[in-house]
Amino acid sequence: MPDNQRRKLTSAGVDPDRIPGHVAIIMDGNGRWAQQRGLPRLEGHRRGYRTVTRIVRVASDAGVRALTLYTFSAENWRRPQDEVSGIMRLIAAAAHRELRRLTDEGVQLRVSGRMEGLPDFVREALLADIERTKNNPGLVLTLAVNYGGRAEIADAVQSIARRVADGELSPEAIDEELVSKSLYQPDLPDPDLLIRTAAEMRVSNFLLWQIAYSEIHVTPVLWPDFAEADLLKAIADYQSRVRKFGGVPAPSGQK
Ligand code: IPE
Ligand code: IPE
Ligand code: MG
Repeated sequence: MPDNQRRKLTSAGVDPDRIPGHVAIIMDGNGRWAQQRGLPRLEGHRRGYRTVTRIVRVASDAGVRALTLYTFSAENWRRPQDEVSGIMRLIAAAAHRELRRLTDEGVQLRVSGRMEGLPDFVREALLADIERTKNNPGLVLTLAVNYGGRAEIADAVQSIARRVADGELSPEAIDEELVSKSLYQPDLPDPDLLIRTAAEMRVSNFLLWQIAYSEIHVTPVLWPDFAEADLLKAIADYQSRVRKFGGVPAPSGQK
């Protein structure tokens, strides 16, 4: 990491040598952001997409290796038809424009969720980016689209059951590691830090299996307003925690 970047992190209270490897974000508050300004909800989503571009760059520069963003939940189809179709158009447009720029900078794009449930034009735009960036060496950016944590676990159970039915696997061989390896992104480590914007104290069906021991940071900042300083604050907060994973604190003041 360049010296000026180390200095920037340090002055924000962040230890450049203990950056969380995997950060997951529930990007919430687009609707409220728009409402507060008397704008249509979709305008909040539009601004939210600009935040994504900025935050991916900040995270990558800070040394975060994997960033998973809750973009559209399996339950968000319940929203009014025009909001849903507006969000779908935004995702496809982002895949064509901003994401293209980021991915040209070395970001590897992935998508978690039931892609078969997306409109063709969204799925095709995303698949093109996934294919184009699959060997990129930089930050792994996973967009959770049409994603539900319970659906992900159900899909994993189905694929395991199929292997048992085929006689390829015995029921006794099913352990936590196999379940982890049967999820949508088997090679990603569990998130170290889970951030939720817009103050809501719930996980809304996001990464249910993977967040078993994630540190949680909730900020009142609405997603369109979420800035570099807010991400660094969340990382500093994460670094102040003592992770125990059910044990006792590590000796000699180690965190
Ligand atoms: C998050 O913002 C974006 C999506 C869920 C797609 P919201 O649209 O949920 O914003 P609020 O919660 O209504 O403020
Ligand atoms: C979670 O936010 C989903 C995304 C951020 C994509 P929601 O706004 O949908 O969650 P609830 O409805 O407040 O639980
Ligand atoms: Mg919301």
